[in-house]
Amino acid sequence: MMSAANGLPRALSGKILVTRRLPPNVTARLQRDFNPTLNPEDVLRTPAEWLQLANGHDAILCCATEWMDAQFMANLPGSVRMIATFSVGYEHIDVAGATARNIIVTHTPEVLTDATADMTMLCLLAAARRAREGDALVRTGEWSVWTTEMLLGVHVTGKRLGIYGMGRIGRAVARRARGFGMEIHYHNRTRLAPELELGAIYHESAERLLAVSQFLSLNAPAAAQNDKFLNEAAIGRLPDGAVVVNTARGSLVDDDALIAALTRGKLAAAGLDVFAGEPRLDERYRTLANVFTMPHLGSATHETRDAMGFCCLDNLSAFFAGKPCPNALNDQASHDQDSR
Ligand code: DGY
Repeated sequence: MMSAANGLPRALSGKILVTRRLPPNVTARLQRDFNPTLNPEDVLRTPAEWLQLANGHDAILCCATEWMDAQFMANLPGSVRMIATFSVGYEHIDVAGATARNIIVTHTPEVLTDATADMTMLCLLAAARRAREGDALVRTGEWSVWTTEMLLGVHVTGKRLGIYGMGRIGRAVARRARGFGMEIHYHNRTRLAPELELGAIYHESAERLLAVSQFLSLNAPAAAQNDKFLNEAAIGRLPDGAVVVNTARGSLVDDDALIAALTRGKLAAAGLDVFAGEPRLDERYRTLANVFTMPHLGSATHETRDAMGFCCLDNLSAFFAGKPCPNALNDQASHDQDSR
């Protein structure tokens, strides 16, 4: 075990600032293995407040709710040597700024792949089969008679699903969608090896993918090149009556363009788990009947949230033991499309 500057073994000197309340099993291990400053009331704080609190801490365990931009990194106290984010997405962290200050940044890939892919299928099916309207009909008591034409939706089996961003989550979506009889198409910057592609049809350009996507699933990270990827031009390329699903990040969507297309019937429906500026979102989404919404629940299962927490702790343990962190981002900060 490496020694810290104060002569104590590093594993015992790990003073961790924890920005959000974490699952009980994760908190218990944190308290067993480290010296954490917890946030039991789950208070949301400003970056300036986190900077002040970070004084004297060796590491920060944060969530995607804490934005750590270049200015934040520049002002971080010198004691902070590591940031572990409880998320696979890391657009909220200026990794380059952290690297410049020799701060390790880790995230939580793999452990949330299945839960997020499940959520993608939930959004896809709910949007296609009008779950929001059906549920409302039952709950309001307005369902008085069964009819042959009541709330007809979009058939899923046999349709083409375009996956934008065929990383871990995209591939897990493909596996599930195959079970629903869908034909899988995808776009990535680089084509997958055949054993990962599993028969999915590769499109060298996003434009070509869009043109065939009767269903479109966004599974790419919130990188600059993906900002408002689904804009008016992109939607224009989709087949009429397409269904759009987003479980990645709200920044991939131009809300004005999506809402206009859903309103005028260019798109049949959308299933959205994420929104630009969430938890605030474009008010029009609340009233559009053909939009199925969820409050960013992609990874929200007991098992997955525990696994995300343990992943953070594994990385912290490695760091304080002087070993390489298994999920360090600093050497792979290029935001590849397949990094989710
Ligand atoms: C992630 O891990 O990136 C999820 O979207 C939760 O923020």
